[in-house]
Amino acid sequence: MEPREQRRRHRDKLLFLMLAGAISIILLVIGSYQLVEFTDSTAFCGRLCHQVMYPEYTAYQASPHSRVRCTECHVGPGADYLVKSKLAGVPLIFATISDSYSRPIPTPVENLRPARETCEQCHRPEKFAGDLVRVHTSYAPDETNTEKIDVRVLRVGGGESEVARDIHWHIAAQVWYLALDSKRQEIGWVGVENTGGELVEYVDPQKADEVTPERVAAEKRLMDCIDCHNRATHIFRSPAELVDTALAQGKIDKSLPFIKRESMKALDPPSASLDQASDRVKAIGDFYRANYPQVYEEKAQTIAQMVLELKEVARLTTFPEMKVTWKSYPINIGHQEAPGCFRCHGKLAATAGEQKGQPIDVSCNLCHYFALEQTGLFPTQK
Ligand code: HEC
Ligand code: HEC
Ligand code: HEC
Ligand code: HEC
Ligand code: HEC
Repeated sequence: MEPREQRRRHRDKLLFLMLAGAISIILLVIGSYQLVEFTDSTAFCGRLCHQVMYPEYTAYQASPHSRVRCTECHVGPGADYLVKSKLAGVPLIFATISDSYSRPIPTPVENLRPARETCEQCHRPEKFAGDLVRVHTSYAPDETNTEKIDVRVLRVGGGESEVARDIHWHIAAQVWYLALDSKRQEIGWVGVENTGGELVEYVDPQKADEVTPERVAAEKRLMDCIDCHNRATHIFRSPAELVDTALAQGKIDKSLPFIKRESMKALDPPSASLDQASDRVKAIGDFYRANYPQVYEEKAQTIAQMVLELKEVARLTTFPEMKVTWKSYPINIGHQEAPGCFRCHGKLAATAGEQKGQPIDVSCNLCHYFALEQTGLFPTQK
């Protein structure tokens, strides 16, 4: 080919590429604008919420954050994360359309914006101080539904950097950690940055061989709110907890004999469908007719109210389509249902210094105390 001809061809090609580029940019701008509009619409959310995210949506509606929009935690302010989250959402859109998403939706949410930028729009743990008192009322599965009141004081603390202490110390400090599993339940290494920028390190002696400097460098994560508050709003409460709350609030009459036991029989394990749960709840009426005919006569109204309340408990605990129960997601805030705080406390040991070989403190009163119970201010038995 003649050099001139070649040059012309090159120029044409370049022109074509430039034109194509310009057209795609225009299309992208229009397209992504419409995608943003579409993905923010209720129709889109409706489909996602009513199928894939139905359990999260339901738990959210019954949580303290029910008036906070999904995007305030999942996207946050600014355009950056809007684009990132929309892009991250693309596979989910395809998965929804093709029905190929995993059930339940896996956690942790990999690309969730650092919680400090979202949660701290509204909360400032640096400004917290002191203790938080939690009163927990539960009922036994006996005839009188014996009430038990537990009081615990949590040393939530707080404060900015140097003065920070107690539970919210972790966010004023720089605590890095390495999880050995995808669910972040097996923590192999922790590094706390001191004022000089050096790391004070802790390692799980049982897993020391899995912790390599390369892996720490590549995979370490800075601890933030959701490493403890992973169930900040999608709180899947168990039927036992929900029934206890309904009894404590007087929504269910606690003078109904064996009501705690019968509720549990109907709701735990969860039913295969909401209709089935509803039938099992209604059948509690038959229990009273057969065993307590007088109660059945005199308390017809409270029994009807109880059935309504338990149907609500069923709604909050029955998610067969997404295979979600109150046990599906680990709760990191305590150490009862899942390891939570004990993923590190009492498990990892210091690698150097005076504390070498000592596990991270796990004494009960580091985090809470139950002393109020002993003052007699709160009766433990009624
Ligand atoms: C108060 C903050 C907050 C709000 C509001 C919120 N979420 Fe979440 N969401 C979270 C956190 C925190 C996680 C857990 C992240 C993790 O474990 O990595 C999460 C996880 C999820 C998950 C993954 C499955 C799971 O249960 O962990 C889905 C799906 C989800 N959210 C959907 C929604 C939808 C839909 C809404 C609105 C109806 C919403 N979220 C509102 C904070 C929030
Ligand atoms: C748009 C504001 C807003 C955002 C964002 C937000 N919260 Fe909240 N949060 C609230 C409000 C308001 C309450 C109090 C609700 C009440 O007392 O009824 C609350 C309550 C709480 C509570 C106490 C719940 C209880 O049982 O008393 C915790 C813990 C909490 N939020 C953690 C978080 C975490 C973690 C995040 C980030 C993932 C977050 N919040 C994001 C507004 C927000
Ligand atoms: C080391 C674990 C841990 C981390 C990290 C953590 N929290 Fe907490 N937080 C707790 C515990 C434990 C409680 C008390 C639990 C309860 O509600 O019974 C609590 C309580 C709270 C409360 C309720 C306080 C009240 O008076 O009702 C809010 C709000 C809160 N945290 C927000 C945050 C935010 C925002 C972040 C991140 C900037 C954060 N927390 C980081 C463990 C943690
Ligand atoms: C990723 C590991 C990790 C997890 C998870 C964790 N902690 Fe810690 N925590 C630490 C380390 C490291 C220290 C500092 C130990 C030291 O200085 O000896 C610490 C210190 C503390 C302190 C003392 C802070 C002070 O100096 O006043 C409290 C209280 C505490 N943690 C409570 C909790 C609670 C409650 C949870 C669960 C909700 C929790 N921690 C989860 C690693 C962790
Ligand atoms: C590292 C901090 C930490 C340590 C150490 C710790 N706990 Fe806890 N504990 C918590 C947190 C956080 C919760 C859950 C708070 C919540 O659910 O709001 C909890 C919850 C509990 C509960 C459940 C209370 C209830 O009403 O549901 C019991 C019981 C308990 N702890 C006993 C103990 C005992 C006994 C020890 C000592 C062997 C201990 N804890 C050590 C942080 C700790």
